[in-house]
Amino acid sequence: MRQAQLLKVEGLKQYFPIYGGFLGAQVNNVKAVDDISFVVNRGEAVSIVGESGCGKSTTGRAILRLDEPTAGSIELDGVDLLSLNRGEMKDTRKEIQIIFQDPYASLNPRLTVRQILYESMNIQKHIKRKDREARMYELLDLVGLQRDQAERFPHEFSGGQRQRIGIARALSVDPKLIVCDEAVSALDVSIQAQVLNLLKKLQREMGLTYLFISHDLGVVRHISNRIIVMYLGKIVEIGDNDSIFENPKHPYTQALLSAIPVPNPKKKSKRILLKGDVPSPIDPPQGCRFHTRCPFATDLCKEETPQLRTVDKMAEGHQAACHYINEVSFDNLKIEQELVKVESLQSEDASYERVK
Ligand SMILES: Nc1ncnc2c1ncn2[C@@H]1O[C@H](COP(=O)(O)OP(=O)(O)OP(=O)(O)O)[C@@H](O)[C@H]1O
Ligand code: SF4
Ligand SMILES: [Mg+2]
Repeated sequence: MRQAQLLKVEGLKQYFPIYGGFLGAQVNNVKAVDDISFVVNRGEAVSIVGESGCGKSTTGRAILRLDEPTAGSIELDGVDLLSLNRGEMKDTRKEIQIIFQDPYASLNPRLTVRQILYESMNIQKHIKRKDREARMYELLDLVGLQRDQAERFPHEFSGGQRQRIGIARALSVDPKLIVCDEAVSALDVSIQAQVLNLLKKLQREMGLTYLFISHDLGVVRHISNRIIVMYLGKIVEIGDNDSIFENPKHPYTQALLSAIPVPNPKKKSKRILLKGDVPSPIDPPQGCRFHTRCPFATDLCKEETPQLRTVDKMAEGHQAACHYINEVSFDNLKIEQELVKVESLQSEDASYERVK
């Protein structure tokens, strides 16, 4: 029987050395990802969200071993990726495809769509030359491009269409896992919804597995089965979609969620603006890393690092790293105080609701 778990990340650390001083010795390091563990099950879409610099892309790059992790283990389909030599990793890397924010930068401008897809299919040796054309048309159909667009170059397409070419290329090698790093961030909101709809449809029809990376919880809302919230290199909350959206426990998740436009124009809600800056990952705060921005912080938070723990026995897999789970809520907070500003908010935009 095939394992349900496809990707298993355990104790992953990614520290980037900082060199300086008179002799150019290592003086410190950027703790971009600092001891995170999670799994992605087959056929699941798991999203990693958090503000810029929290370590999302570094996590994605570590999984592909584009950077060599400092510590931890990464298993794909039972294979320990960190034990593979360079040649073995090259072969394995095609099983994990990554789709970036800027499809234009990752598509060779001198190749037509046909050539781009053929080049990619060549990597997958079991596709015979005579079958390539049929497979190419099949891929174009899947991602909603016209067959007669195969002879065009990337610059002849719009941003959304180019992202569809990127998706077709990723699918052409039958990957086990697709990592989408801010894959729709550069697109207009309406085009974002179309591309997200496409990814969702492909997941449903082909049983794809996604690791979706985004700074915007609104974008991942309808595509994810589970969500991982990161802050300054750590996971602060993890849970299924409903748990995160309906019952967020960590104050950071609550603040992130409050920034999402409300689809119902009659419904008023609060926007929580965190005022402080994100501290440097070179020298992250002791104890809870969020304590310098958290309006609920106590002395305990400054001293002791909260571990991820189960929020509610009934909500399987919902965990948060806060000493005061079930006690902290912005509902009871004064409108204006030192660390946060709470604004009342009315709906403007329901475009993400179209993603079904
Ligand atoms: N090669 C590197 N050398 C040194 N520091 C790095 C390197 N790559 C990333 N970092 C640092 O690691 C931290 C995490 O970066 P990362 O790119 O993973 O963030 P992110 O969550 O993807 O942010 P964004 O939303 O802006 O893409 C940042 O402080 C970044 O400056
Ligand atoms: S542990 Fe303390 S500082 Fe950290 S989120 Fe919870 S209340 Fe805030
Ligand atoms: Mg990034």
